Amino acid sequence: SSDFVSLDRLSVLEIEQLIERALELKHGQPSKTFANKTIANLFFENSTRTRCSFEMAEHRLGMHVLPFETTTSSVQKGETLLDTCKTLEALGVEALVIRHQETGYYHALMEQLTIPIINAGDGSGQHPSQSLLDLMTMYEVFGHIHGKTVVICGDLRHSRVARSNADVLQRLGATVIGSGPPEWFDETMGIAYVPIDEAIEQSDIIMLLRVQQERHNQAMELEETYHEQYGLTLDRMRRVRPEAIILHPAPVNRGIEIADELVEHTQSRIFEQMKNGVFARMAILERAFHPNSTEGAI
Ligand code: CP
Repeated sequence: SSDFVSLDRLSVLEIEQLIERALELKHGQPSKTFANKTIANLFFENSTRTRCSFEMAEHRLGMHVLPFETTTSSVQKGETLLDTCKTLEALGVEALVIRHQETGYYHALMEQLTIPIINAGDGSGQHPSQSLLDLMTMYEVFGHIHGKTVVICGDLRHSRVARSNADVLQRLGATVIGSGPPEWFDETMGIAYVPIDEAIEQSDIIMLLRVQQERHNQAMELEETYHEQYGLTLDRMRRVRPEAIILHPAPVNRGIEIADELVEHTQSRIFEQMKNGVFARMAILERAFHPNSTEGAI
């Protein structure tokens, strides 16, 4: 299938090929242009990085991007997601990038549409393009993931980034542990809980998650104590391994998940993740239009 909705639908080989392709693109390998392809980005939830990097990737691949805004569309008159997508398909749009608040929204679309669906985040479900850029950033630093220890720290229960990553990292041979507020831990993810101070000393990759104020009520109370109890403080940074890297999908709540001055620390790859996001999404888009080509469009 040329859909890209969840990494668990891709084999380890396919995931590694996408990572390799994204790194090739970053290192300047050319891509065929897709000037005859029309794509639309449907964001029903707010976004800066995912939306802008998909748009950047589409422009770099020479695609025509059909402007679509949920706020001025007939979604406001009650048109469903399915009818909106069927309409765009009927108009000639050849792939859809969608972020939507409903977990698993893509199942019905995949049954009823023939054009590729690219999931840019579904509720508390998956965020596979974020996972791919996270994996790309790890491969870029370490050359592989097998045998590395990754701690995912924060609001695991509500995080589609955590859900996407916990599974794929284990498939790629990493040891994944969870940390942060025990009440936000999610035992269904199949990873062990380790308190933050121990977790930081054990890990090669420290993946911090955003405290998602919009997804729960408790967050405001926790915010005041979160940094000291679970955040990457200046004090904890002294115990981070010298070769370890710090990741965060962003947006970052500076001073909560991570001390303000550590966001730009030499061991932080947070802005490199954003840069890599464009190349990861170029590789995803190439695959959407050339699903059987491991070499992208070349
Ligand atoms: N990391 C991420 O998905 O950021 P946006 O919500 O800004 O797209």
